[in-house]
Amino acid sequence: MERREKINAWLSHLRFIIYRGRLVRLPADFYRRYRRTLARLRQGEGGWSVYREITYDVGSHPETSLDYECAFATRQVRELAPRDILDIGSYRHFIIGLLACHDLTTVDVRSRRGIVPQERVLVCDAKALTLPDGSFDMVISLCALEHFGLGRYGDQIDLGADRKALAEMMRVLRPGGHLVVTIPVHAGRPAIAFNSHRVYTPELIREMFSPLELVEEQVCDRRQERLKDPGLITADPRDWDVYLGCWRKP
Ligand SMILES: C[S@@+](CC[C@H](N)C(=O)[O-])C[C@H]1O[C@@H](n2cnc3c(N)ncnc32)[C@H](O)[C@@H]1O
Repeated sequence: MERREKINAWLSHLRFIIYRGRLVRLPADFYRRYRRTLARLRQGEGGWSVYREITYDVGSHPETSLDYECAFATRQVRELAPRDILDIGSYRHFIIGLLACHDLTTVDVRSRRGIVPQERVLVCDAKALTLPDGSFDMVISLCALEHFGLGRYGDQIDLGADRKALAEMMRVLRPGGHLVVTIPVHAGRPAIAFNSHRVYTPELIREMFSPLELVEEQVCDRRQERLKDPGLITADPRDWDVYLGCWRKP
């Protein structure tokens, strides 16, 4: 039994469980029915082999800012119809969706087996892509740039790695190609939660991406799990929002 399940099995005797990181009190009615049904199962009803794993997933359907990131990137892919896509350090489930109808190359510093045969997997550092200039219509990198060069994923510690990786993304894009990127943002001084991630500012993003032309940008409130007015970006780097941007190489 996993530690979390053990804790929940124990806590449930007090009518509590830990759910989505919070201590939740189980409703008396649910707990009574749970106990009764467990007793019946243990007596052999239905012929199931039974072990305890008490769970109570109620409330709103779980949503995260990643949903908004994938939705933003998917819409750019649909509208811009790239022939080929390079995805750098991105979300696996998103990649699986993309692979259904796109020619896709993925890059990550950690080795990973391709999930389906048509996925071309490259294991290398994003700051030194082993790919020719101007070879993709689109580069996508979701919640990745902020981690580069911090050693968290086993890459070399290099505080300039995000800028070097961004230069590489621009290099491998064809003229007229698009970069879709998501990164943490806040309205203060650029910050590093060392060695987890960087938190950028709108001004720094403008400066870093200045060789490109802005196509569209959004801001997602990570805590409220919804899009917000970019003018209302949090001022606290610990409470960072997510910047979603689509930029075009001239
Ligand atoms: C926060 S994760 C995003 C992954 C995605 N959210 C997931 O669920 O797998 C960042 C990804 O960037 C990769 N990464 C970190 N540093 C890198 C580097 N220097 N070059 C290439 N990939 C890197 C990590 O291995 C990781 O898969």
